Amino acid sequence: MVCLGNICRSPLAEGILKSKVDPAKVQVDSAGTGGWHVGELPDSRSIEVAQKYGIDITDQRGRKFSAYDFEQYDYIYVMDNSNYQDVIKLANSSSEIAKVKLILDEVFPDENVDVPDPYYGGTLGFENVFKLLDDACEKIAHKL
Ligand code: 4NP
Repeated sequence: MVCLGNICRSPLAEGILKSKVDPAKVQVDSAGTGGWHVGELPDSRSIEVAQKYGIDITDQRGRKFSAYDFEQYDYIYVMDNSNYQDVIKLANSSSEIAKVKLILDEVFPDENVDVPDPYYGGTLGFENVFKLLDDACEKIAHKL
């Protein structure tokens, strides 16, 4: 799960997908394309909305996406088109590029929909992001 800062959207996506899969079978992690928040806890508004729905994301710490992630993971879900461009710049082959998917394609196929960045907004934005990601992760969990 990849976003820009790895403090708002992708930590929620990580926590939500983890809550829907068997951890013995599926490894889920998140990262940001930017490094400003490496080592930090998720944004308090993401922590709060996750907690509201029974998911604890306070064990997560920000980290930066790296080319090594292409070797580690079968699927790389990005939150928006800008993340997509930043991630594929680090790919070394067409098979690595093929691993990268816009997460809301799971819910709105071929519509090219971004998960809106809630960082500069209020808590309603985080609630909206949670619901979008919950729908997407439900689909992903079924596929996996
Ligand atoms: P995220 O949101 O990509 O969903 O984690 C952001 C968090 C921090 C920044 C940008 C987006 N930032 O510029 O620090």
